[in-house]
Amino acid sequence: MLKDKNIIVGVCGSIAAYKSALLVRLLVKAGANVQVVMTPDAANFITPLTLSTLSKHPVHIKYFDTESGEWDNHVALGLWADYMLIAPATANTLAKMANGLCDNLLLAVYLSAKCPVYFAPAMDLDMWKHPATQNNVSKLKAYGNVLIPAGTGELASGLYGEGRMAEPEEIVTLLQHEVQKTLPLIGKKILVTAGPTYEAIDPVRFIGNHSSGKMGFAIADELADLGAEITLIAGPTAQTTISRHINRIDVNSAAEMLDACLYEFQNADACIMSAAVADYTPVEVASQKIKKQESSLNIGLKKTTDILKTLGEIKRTNQVLIGFALETENEEQYAIDKLNKKNLDLIILNSLNDDGAGFKGDTNKVTMIDRLLNKSVFELKSKTAVAADIGHKLVELLNSK
Ligand code: CTP
Repeated sequence: MLKDKNIIVGVCGSIAAYKSALLVRLLVKAGANVQVVMTPDAANFITPLTLSTLSKHPVHIKYFDTESGEWDNHVALGLWADYMLIAPATANTLAKMANGLCDNLLLAVYLSAKCPVYFAPAMDLDMWKHPATQNNVSKLKAYGNVLIPAGTGELASGLYGEGRMAEPEEIVTLLQHEVQKTLPLIGKKILVTAGPTYEAIDPVRFIGNHSSGKMGFAIADELADLGAEITLIAGPTAQTTISRHINRIDVNSAAEMLDACLYEFQNADACIMSAAVADYTPVEVASQKIKKQESSLNIGLKKTTDILKTLGEIKRTNQVLIGFALETENEEQYAIDKLNKKNLDLIILNSLNDDGAGFKGDTNKVTMIDRLLNKSVFELKSKTAVAADIGHKLVELLNSK
């Protein structure tokens, strides 16, 4: 959830600043880009070196470095952030934030930030309960900032009560949930197919193709990152999935893929059919291994059911259906014919005439054509980047339904 998110961690002068080290570490581990801004007093509790090492960025403390003459641009920092997390937030800093004071860099960044701001108070129980502090917290909430509630327990003063900074793990989980809520495909169920199908000739032989499954797996990963619940129906492939939002169903043949798709499509908001489904399958599958006898062997083949076309026939008006076309000539016209014939919302065309496009490699070059024949031509990119383009288009199509 936090992958590639830009997060500013603001650290104030409290004994709870020691927890900021773990907080920064957990955020970085979750894939976030973290920059730390400290109040001058915070540096008495935890060294900037600790936090710069963990965040992999210089720590910001002063507006102006008198030795280097460098000026720290608080506006740029505020604009860089997707989220600002002030933890620990002291009574003093909360009071200044609530009243718009700006006598240190952290406060200037706070005032410049346009992103959601979360604050995790840490102080002694009587300071926390004081009407002045509670008033400041109410003000900050009214400004749209989000309180991460203080916990109850033994405090640094030796007293017992409310005022402990929330644990770093809790803060990260809370932030992950907040990020999740903003994802464009949250609550959507998407069916993705990937890989080849194997059509058995006998117990040891099959007709297959060179599809690696990379494109379909990249799409599944990308859509899961956008918040969707994915059912990935995969033909035989060496690809692996890690997201817990991907439910993988392995199949072998076109017939098995058809059955799985028909079942799963009923509950799906969209389907992206990227599998290279065999167009023909043996009429009969020999029950024993075929022995070599004659100088030639003829295998009778029959057409498989076109899964995409079948889904196009049963598609509800609010479902989005996306297919792929791999062409070698008259590419766009053939792709448009498939879009219409199979009742698709979008066809993704790759041409075997483009270097780096197609089945096996890590790159692809696609053109997307929608029902209104709007055409988007993309550059050669990694399959992961192509999957991101497909994700954007899918969000657009679902929003237009
Ligand atoms: N497809 C499918 N079921 C099949 C065959 C293909 O669902 N039995 C899907 C593929 O997953 C892909 C799209 O259809 O999304 C490809 O279209 P298709 O008509 O199969 O292309 P070609 O096999 O290349 O057809 P043609 O030989 O007509 O070009």
